[in-house]
Amino acid sequence: MNTQILLPTKENIEIAARELNSGEVIGIPTETVYGLAANALNPNAIRKIYSIKGRPNNNPLIVHVSCVEEVYELAYVSSDAQKIIDYFWPGPLTILLKKKNIIPHSVTAGLDTVAIRLPAHPITRSIIAQAHCPLAAPSANISGKPSPTEALHVFDDFNGKIPYIIDGGSCKIGLESTVLDLSKVPYTILRPGGVTLESIQKIFPSVELSQHLFKPITENSVAESPGMLYKHYAPEAEVVLLDGQIENIALYIREAYFCSQKTNKKIKILCFEEHYDYFPKDIRINIGSYHHREKFAERLFRLLRALDKMHVDTIYSEVTSLDGIGMAIMNRLIRAASFRIVNTDIEKYPQSNE
Ligand code: TXA
Ligand code: MG
Repeated sequence: MNTQILLPTKENIEIAARELNSGEVIGIPTETVYGLAANALNPNAIRKIYSIKGRPNNNPLIVHVSCVEEVYELAYVSSDAQKIIDYFWPGPLTILLKKKNIIPHSVTAGLDTVAIRLPAHPITRSIIAQAHCPLAAPSANISGKPSPTEALHVFDDFNGKIPYIIDGGSCKIGLESTVLDLSKVPYTILRPGGVTLESIQKIFPSVELSQHLFKPITENSVAESPGMLYKHYAPEAEVVLLDGQIENIALYIREAYFCSQKTNKKIKILCFEEHYDYFPKDIRINIGSYHHREKFAERLFRLLRALDKMHVDTIYSEVTSLDGIGMAIMNRLIRAASFRIVNTDIEKYPQSNE
């Protein structure tokens, strides 16, 4: 099979809809990340998503709709859920609701809740509307890899495995949607994303955060969201997060840089614009201003993928505070780094310990 990247013309959206209706899986843009989409009401098409992506079959999928009315056919919408829908949709917020029977078990991996989202991207919505069915779509990356934010990323992962990718340009948000569990109290954020904790607190001040947003799941704890169990967002390169005073981070990187030159390793440091001058020219990457971290969110997965293509061995990154979009950024970074953060105020670069 040759995978074709199609521009989102009227004709091509009709082609996409036809493919989805005949049980195919295709790549679609959304405002968060690209999705690997299939008809959510067709169990055979759903099985294809799991096998193409290499996704564990106990990890449920998000169902995407093109208008609010479609939700009522798929799930039980409480008055609180309706408040959230009215306030945040369309947009990068997925909500967990009790599912109706029409949703196949393969979509929810046997759970009695379904994750639903109304995307803000006009092309996503016109594909769903044209196909006349809700679309199940996980992020369109091979399981465990950074999510795709451009049509070419989807092509890199699934060339030859899907017939079409609709090219909607670069994703504006660049990180996956916030996942909010409204199926039981207390309401809980299971994954931070483009819709922030602070904005959800405006509607429900007592909304909670899952215990597992910044910690690995241990044998004794239970994952509220199966996606938490798996290694995520990991590029081939080792990712190391650096915390501490900027002077100490700079010192750590200087040592790492000398060492990398001796050992012929490629390293890079993702740093805020305000700190750019602290780092050697040929390894620094400007992730934008600390005051506009949406830019970092938008570029993060693209950078991780690009650095893998350059065969970088170690990607160092500055950390950021957890307010606003910072929470989603840190949730992805810490997973990419296998939960390790170096405090450079205390820890020296390993070689200089001797
Ligand atoms: O922005 C997004 O949400 C993107 C775009 C394509 O819409 N999609 C996406 O899907 O990120 P995926 O499959 O990569 O992540 C879905 C997450 C997983 O962590 C999964 O475990 C969780 O949502 N999830 C889905 N249904 C669930 C359910 N019924 N209960 C608990 N967690 C659920
Ligand atoms: Mg994913």
